[in-house]
Amino acid sequence: MSEAGADIILEARSLEKVFASGQEKLRILDGLDLAVPGGRSLAILGASGSGKSTLLYILGGLEKPSGGQVLYEGRELFSRSEEDLAAWRNRVVGFVFQFHHLLNDFTALENAALPARLAGYPPEAAEALARPLLDRVGLSARLTHKPGELSGGEQQRVALARALVMSPRILLADEPTGNLDLKSAGAVNGLILELVAEKKLAAVIVTHNSQLAALVDQPMELNAGRLAPAGREAL
Ligand SMILES: Nc1ncnc2c1ncn2[C@@H]1O[C@H](COP(=O)(O)OP(=O)(O)OP(=O)(O)O)[C@@H](O)[C@H]1O
Ligand SMILES: [Mg+2]
Repeated sequence: MSEAGADIILEARSLEKVFASGQEKLRILDGLDLAVPGGRSLAILGASGSGKSTLLYILGGLEKPSGGQVLYEGRELFSRSEEDLAAWRNRVVGFVFQFHHLLNDFTALENAALPARLAGYPPEAAEALARPLLDRVGLSARLTHKPGELSGGEQQRVALARALVMSPRILLADEPTGNLDLKSAGAVNGLILELVAEKKLAAVIVTHNSQLAALVDQPMELNAGRLAPAGREAL
């Protein structure tokens, strides 16, 4: 038995992703393997265009690989029905995108509550789940603000609260602070790492931010379609 919490929760095996570009085929992921232990944080670094977002979307069940497998608790993800996969995404995975992808006409509270609404909770119950998370990310005084009335850092905090509202076991974040100034990025990154630790989440965080990559359990680099551990001296 491995150390508590360190069992593999999400695994990619021999992952391939090929995009057609005119006559050419772009082999973006090329036999990629990855094991994400429960409760551990990984960062993925890599050049622009190396396939980091593509990998994260596949790990989160948002996009299908061209070959290989993704296993959640040992069970293949993409053999599930669309309905089952959507329910898995809703209940197991929290996703934070580079650009917040909040709904502009919804308040911070409604946005953060949205995954719970999609899961069938009535509005009051969904908002009761979202409120403590918005409080935790420092936004209890911004509940009725719409995204356009929030700063970039605040928008990403709402997106983080939304990602966590269904108490997922896995957090996937695609350059969550890539669009923020250094100070806001530092604050949001700090919050992400605190919440990952508090809630014992498995996390895969794509980042160009070496400060963040240095603080996770395992920084990895995506290069030529595969992952390798990134040396801490390179961060
Ligand atoms: N739907 C698509 N069709 C064709 N090519 C695609 C598609 N999506 C991504 N690509 C290509 O795959 C490569 C990897 O894209 P991806 O967005 O995963 O890179 P990335 O590492 O996230 O880059 P960045 O750091 O700039 O966000 C890029 O060259 C991109 O042009
Ligand atoms: Mg990307």
